Amino acid sequence: MSGKLYALSTGPGASDLITVRAARILGSLDILYAPAGRKGGDSLALSIVREYLGEQTEVRCCHFPMSADSVEKEAVWDDVSAALVREVKAGKTVGFITLGDAMLFSTWVFLLQRIGSPEWLEIVPGVTSFAAIAARSKTPLAMEQQSLAVVACTAPEDEIERALAQHDSLVLMKVYGRFPRIKALLAKAGLLDHALLMAEATLPGEQCWRHLGEVADDQPLPYFSTILVNKQWEPGQ
Ligand SMILES: C[S@@+](CC[C@H](N)C(=O)[O-])C[C@H]1O[C@@H](n2cnc3c(N)ncnc32)[C@H](O)[C@@H]1O
Repeated sequence: MSGKLYALSTGPGASDLITVRAARILGSLDILYAPAGRKGGDSLALSIVREYLGEQTEVRCCHFPMSADSVEKEAVWDDVSAALVREVKAGKTVGFITLGDAMLFSTWVFLLQRIGSPEWLEIVPGVTSFAAIAARSKTPLAMEQQSLAVVACTAPEDEIERALAQHDSLVLMKVYGRFPRIKALLAKAGLLDHALLMAEATLPGEQCWRHLGEVADDQPLPYFSTILVNKQWEPGQ
C-alpha cells in the first residue's frame, strides 16, 4: 500500500497560524476531507487552508452531526473513517483537516479510534485555540509550579467547581450556551477578576471580554468561545 493519510491541524483560525509542515502536505494531496458545520454548508477548516491546496486536490466536505443521537454520529464516523482507509488502500495521498490541534476535543479522534495507528498515518500538530487566546490577550497560561487544567464546560457543574478550586490556571472550553452558569461558578470562586472570555480568536470576528462581571448573561456568543482563568494574573489590568 503506497497511500498515506495525514490528519492536519489547521490552527485556531488565521491562515498563517498553520504549521509549515501542514502547508507543505496540503500542497501535495490527492484528496482532502474537510468537516463542515452544516449539511452542504461551508467548512471553516477548509477556508483556513484553501490557499495552500494544490490544483490537483479533490475536496470532499463531510458533515458531522452535533445531535445527541449517538447512533447517527457513530454511523458517520464509521463511514468517513472507512472512506479514508479505502482511499489510502487505493494508493491516494489523503488529508483530513481539523480546527486547532487535531488531538484536542476533535472529531478526528473518533476517526482515529476506528483507524488505529497504521504506519501510513501521520498526525500533524497545530496551534490550539487556547494557545492563540493566551497570545492574543497577552495572558500567560502557566509558570513555574503552577498547574493548568483544560476543562470542557459540558462537564458536570461540581467537577468544574472542583477544577476551579484545585488549579492555578484553567482553560474553559465549549462555553457556548453555558456562559451564565460558568460566570456564576467563577463569581462563587471569587475568580471573575482573573478570567477573560475570547470568541473567534484570530478570526475576523475576534472579541475579548476582560471584565466578566460586566458581561450580561444573555450576551450572544459564538460557538468558538473560550474562557481563560489565571489566579496569578488579572487580565483586566
Ligand atoms: C471541538 S473544540 C475544538 C478544539 C480545537 N481542536 C483546539 O485545538 O482548540 C471547540 C471548542 O474550542 C474552542 N475554540 C476553538 N477555536 C476557537 C477560537 N478561534 N476562539 C475561541 N475558542 C475557540 C471553543 O471553546 C470551542 O467550543
